Amino acid sequence: MARLTPHNEQRARDLIAVYPHPRSALIPLLHLLQEQDGHLTADGMEHVGELVGLEAAEVRGTASFYDMFHTEPVGKYLVAVCTNIACLLQGAYELLEHAEERLGVAPGGTTPDGLFTLEDAECLALCGNAPCLTVNWRFFGDVDRERFDEIIRRLAAGELDGEVPPHGTLARVRRTVGVPAAGVSVHGAGGPDPEYVPAPPAESAEPGAPADGVADGVDLETHATTPAVASLDGPGEPS
Ligand code: FES
Repeated sequence: MARLTPHNEQRARDLIAVYPHPRSALIPLLHLLQEQDGHLTADGMEHVGELVGLEAAEVRGTASFYDMFHTEPVGKYLVAVCTNIACLLQGAYELLEHAEERLGVAPGGTTPDGLFTLEDAECLALCGNAPCLTVNWRFFGDVDRERFDEIIRRLAAGELDGEVPPHGTLARVRRTVGVPAAGVSVHGAGGPDPEYVPAPPAESAEPGAPADGVADGVDLETHATTPAVASLDGPGEPS
């Protein structure tokens, strides 16, 4: 497939309508294109450019800047092993070496059957469960060699299809992670948290405090919307 399908073109137009300038929708449209084809095709980027009034070269220039966009085909499963500091200290390089041996490819390579592409990734923001990896951006924490082999085996057998959608599919659920302070371990591959209950907005709380009803360290997105943001202005009188 090349250009956006009629259905996705309508989704693109709906997205563009949300922004004051069409070009402001470029990143969401690239995600839409990548979700359609698994990577960004040349014709697809040209189509996106037509929709937002940019040259294809400008679209490619933006797409090639970001790690999450791929302008070449990738395997059905993009396995990204974090080798940043927290994971490195927990054996990430040994894990990556094992992944290379297990899959038979170096980082950036794709297995001959087209199933797996291996990546050496920077911090994936799951440092509390180092070493970790993502598959199509779904998280797997506390990964040792045995667990890696089990993940690969289950992916190849299609046993994780419900949790790991095709490459390019964005998460449409609130992300939850288990930070050790709460004694909760990371969930499997990033599916919805059946225990999640949206917290009411905090009326008054100490800067940085979690909203009421949210267990310490469980819901990062809710933490990010607490008065901790307001504290950036300092305690002075509003101007
Ligand atoms: S260092 Fe690996 S997730 Fe942050």
